[in-house]
Amino acid sequence: MILYGNDASPFVRKVRVVLAETGQDGAVTLERVSGTPVEPGTLPIERNPLGKIPALARPDGCTLYDSRVICRFFDERAGAGLYPAGARGWETLTLEATADGILDAAVLMRYEVVARPEAFRHEPWLDAQWSKIARALDALEARWMGHLSGPLDIGQIGVACALGYLDFRHPDRDWRAGRDALVDWEAAFAARDSMRATAPQG
Ligand code: BEZ
Repeated sequence: MILYGNDASPFVRKVRVVLAETGQDGAVTLERVSGTPVEPGTLPIERNPLGKIPALARPDGCTLYDSRVICRFFDERAGAGLYPAGARGWETLTLEATADGILDAAVLMRYEVVARPEAFRHEPWLDAQWSKIARALDALEARWMGHLSGPLDIGQIGVACALGYLDFRHPDRDWRAGRDALVDWEAAFAARDSMRATAPQG
């Protein structure tokens, strides 16, 4: 299977961490592509009309996207249990949605800087995106540490990739300030082989 992605995208990283954690690294070949919403470049618009990565081309001709769908596909393929059943399952999906929401805002901030001419950059909009991220991080620190410390699931992988992306693209915002429990959790999770092997670059 061909996984369209690159080494900077945190959404692609989620998929790659799932592959590593579930022993499926060999199931895909990573085809590196790049672009922005303004200039699609080599993004696989013929595979995903939204032009987003990751996209997974399967041998049957079907292309899966986005990261939530692809992660679930590989979890089911391996019977890995990253999506638990019952009450913890709904919590897990909510945690994954929280992580993806952090990433959506963080990626929009990135595009505001690299894809929009500086004269049109809107600082209040950037700050509003960061406020959204900060509220989500505060919620993780206040309410989610028990879940984050439980058995491995897709919510934890999403949060780890989100925090890694904040370090990668927004280090000046200092997400760690005042969030000691999350800091300790991230340090331990970032030491996993799957995280070390997929550290963002670019
Ligand atoms: C980035 O370079 O920050 C990036 C790349 C692909 C998707 C999202 C973000």
